[in-house]
Amino acid sequence: AASAGMAGARAAGPGSAGARPATYAEVELHAAIGRRYSNRGPFWPDPVPADVRARLIAAAREESAWLDLLVGMTAIGAFAEIARSADKVLRRDTAYQAEQATWTHVDAACAGAARDGIPVTAGAPRAEPQDLLPQRFFTDRQRVSGRDYEPEPLVGILGVAGDRPADQILAGAGLQRVLLTATAAGLDTSMISQPIEVPAAREQLRRSLGRYGWPQIVVRFGYGSPGHPAPRRDVTEVI
Ligand SMILES: Cc1cc2nc3c(=O)[nH]c(=O)nc-3n(C[C@H](O)[C@H](O)[C@H](O)COP(=O)(O)O)c2cc1C
Repeated sequence: AASAGMAGARAAGPGSAGARPATYAEVELHAAIGRRYSNRGPFWPDPVPADVRARLIAAAREESAWLDLLVGMTAIGAFAEIARSADKVLRRDTAYQAEQATWTHVDAACAGAARDGIPVTAGAPRAEPQDLLPQRFFTDRQRVSGRDYEPEPLVGILGVAGDRPADQILAGAGLQRVLLTATAAGLDTSMISQPIEVPAAREQLRRSLGRYGWPQIVVRFGYGSPGHPAPRRDVTEVI
């Protein structure tokens, strides 16, 4: 959809009032589509520069969404507590866990045959008790015990004014533009939706931001080691 939308700036039919060539910024985002994927591994401690942060915030605004980047460990710690408690609620929900298991291919052999879902290579290593942010279960792959996942992740909360289907479309467009802007700037990203999926956690998150609008998704930004994309369907299959 991203590809069709952005290339579509030029492709609008004859007589269409909106027809215009794609802007330089749109060409850059379009080129990032093939390079974007979720990287759930730990990120390096290098901070994300202020101008890149400003571009991420502006990207959300361009789609009538907002992106609040958490600043400082107090804000990140408070968010992490909400996210971990939401994760605990979801871990007790057996129907949720069963559905998630059908989308995550822990067994590498079965992942190779699967067309959809997250292969084990695109998952995160196993969570450790001292981890700040919750991580879904993807694999038994251990990491060095006792070491922090990452000391101070850059966490952004993306939201929109409402929560009707039309608002959720805006949130999706905002997420698309933010993720592609991040990719174009050389950043890696992954998503955290536990605090959005548990209503009480979502309300707590909304209040902590001092917002009237609705948080829709949380994004972790940083510089990671190269990861492994999830499989893609052919564009003609979905459009
Ligand atoms: C609304 C939404 C919520 C998501 N929540 C999570 C999440 O909580 N944890 C996670 O690891 N990935 C999450 N994802 C990422 C998807 O799993 C991922 O985008 C999808 O598998 C495609 O892989 P890709 O991002 O590598 O292209 C979410 C994606 C969307 C659009």
